[in-house]
Amino acid sequence: MKPTFATAYRDAGCGMLDGEWVGRSVTVSGWVHRRRDLGGLVFIDLRDRYGRLQLSFGPDWTEDEALELVTDLNPEDVVRIEGDVARRPAEALNPDMATGEVEVRVRRLERLTEADPLPILVAYPPEEPLASEELRLRHRVLDLRRPEMIRNFEIRHQATMAARRALGDEGFVEVETPLLTRSTPEGARDYLVPSRVHAGMFYALPQSPQLYKQLLMTAGFDRYFQIARCLRDEDLRADRQPEFTQIDVEMAFVEEEDVYGVAERMFARMWTDALGERLDTPFVRLTHAEALERYGTDKPDLRIAWELRDFTPALAGIGFGIFDGAVKAGGRVRGVVASSGATLSRAKLDAYNDLAQRQGAKGALWLKRTENGWSGPPARVVGEEVGQRLANEYGIDVGDLVLLVAGTDQESAPALDALRRAAATDLGAVDSESGHWLWVVDFPLFESDPETGQPVPAHHPFTMPRTAGPEELREDPLAVTARAYDVVYNGWELASGSIRCHVPELQQAILGAIGFSSAEIEQRFGFLLEAFRHGVPPHGGYAVGMDRVVALMVGATSIRDVIAFPKTTAARGLLEGSPSPISAEELKELGIRIEGKG
Ligand code: AMO
Repeated sequence: MKPTFATAYRDAGCGMLDGEWVGRSVTVSGWVHRRRDLGGLVFIDLRDRYGRLQLSFGPDWTEDEALELVTDLNPEDVVRIEGDVARRPAEALNPDMATGEVEVRVRRLERLTEADPLPILVAYPPEEPLASEELRLRHRVLDLRRPEMIRNFEIRHQATMAARRALGDEGFVEVETPLLTRSTPEGARDYLVPSRVHAGMFYALPQSPQLYKQLLMTAGFDRYFQIARCLRDEDLRADRQPEFTQIDVEMAFVEEEDVYGVAERMFARMWTDALGERLDTPFVRLTHAEALERYGTDKPDLRIAWELRDFTPALAGIGFGIFDGAVKAGGRVRGVVASSGATLSRAKLDAYNDLAQRQGAKGALWLKRTENGWSGPPARVVGEEVGQRLANEYGIDVGDLVLLVAGTDQESAPALDALRRAAATDLGAVDSESGHWLWVVDFPLFESDPETGQPVPAHHPFTMPRTAGPEELREDPLAVTARAYDVVYNGWELASGSIRCHVPELQQAILGAIGFSSAEIEQRFGFLLEAFRHGVPPHGGYAVGMDRVVALMVGATSIRDVIAFPKTTAARGLLEGSPSPISAEELKELGIRIEGKG
């Protein structure tokens, strides 16, 4: 027998009454989803988390009081009814609904609570667009009642349970780590919490449990995980929230392959248990250098078959100033062949130029191969020989478009990545049926800060260099490769991790390379280094962006749809009204004065 969740208010959830219930007398409770009055007959769709149930009210089977009350019901009133489950007449069967075979002929009706007129709909008529996201976030409780939203959270729950089961079965122990802590550098700003007891001092909320999980490895926990909330003050987007959830994992005595195995088994279990789908493992591996060369990004979307090509050999030195200038300055001419792209309009190509500029390139040039030869800004210098070479070596057919960006790789890569994705979307060249999992491996240990040129960690500063010692870290940090890896799925970075630096001297050199003085290292990270000096196992791990994973699972375009109470892109909670000012007394108690407010 399926669970019915029978309680004092009901014999079963609304969505649970199927043909097997016909002939039984039941009590059911739920929300008034929709009401239809057909003369003497009234129909109500009663809704709860489990689905919708048709109730019918008529003079032959419904008490007079109930007949009177039913015409007074508002959408979203909460009611309890008693009645008999009957098979619907043939013409009223609804195979699309789990309860589509039955209706409940109501005898008694009780209104448990009454709903005011609704600011947004729960039961949208077909084709009616959703209310604006701002309104829906403001009235999130109503928005969460939509069956699609409830389904998102059921899948989220299944996925979380599956991860817990997968890791639990492999001996991982779930451990909680502090929320009030000191800064963990993960590349964003910290959210800070003032201390009342220690006026003028602040806790930082964790950007991730990174250092705690490494300390747990040092403490001998061997295999740790946590469904952990992380807090980061950074620019928000569809896939970024100021607080988000990670499946955070760490293991001792491991190398990369051990970590990949655990992560792949965990993802596979999540996909089977939450979606009933099989994942192909092991995932494809791609080095960071190869990903940038072939796709211009460290999170390539492999649903698009096109790869970036180096056109320098064919197009440099043929008399086109922009190409020659870029090559002279140490750059290249790279591009992507958009199959059948010659149909795209000038307006579209101009928009691509703007897109490339927004990504930091000088612009995007284009070449079309048509029946009558080449067209586009560089076409006048594409003679017979160059044209042949483009066609033969680069496989450019009549009807194709080439989008070109000249410049250093650093300048051109983001633009080429954006152009590849934009043109593929515009030309329908994204194979939306396919799913591509990959590990991007061998990240550099550092990147150079675009503004200062200083090395900044490409992942985080607790990552083990592949081979370098303290000397190389000091002398040429930007050349050092890290034992760091990401899981990428269809262009989304779903997880990140690394083998950690467990050698105190090396850890100090890494922190030194990013600009911490010895005194700062001691002050901020002394606790970690001290722990390492008391016997540390080699260790490594990863963290999965759970919100992103669930958004993918349910087909949401924003992680806000899989977070019950998310923030807006301006980091506001519209429902409860956060952040909010605090009283003068509270400020005083914390020893804080707000500038400009006295
Ligand atoms: P990282 O900072 O790469 O690594 O984060 C891991 C994963 O978390 C997700 N993620 C986010 N999701 C939503 N909103 C955000 N603001 C956000 N930021 C990150 C991404 C990302 O891949 N401590 C390391 C992990 C490790 O080394 O083990 C860490 O936090 O999917």
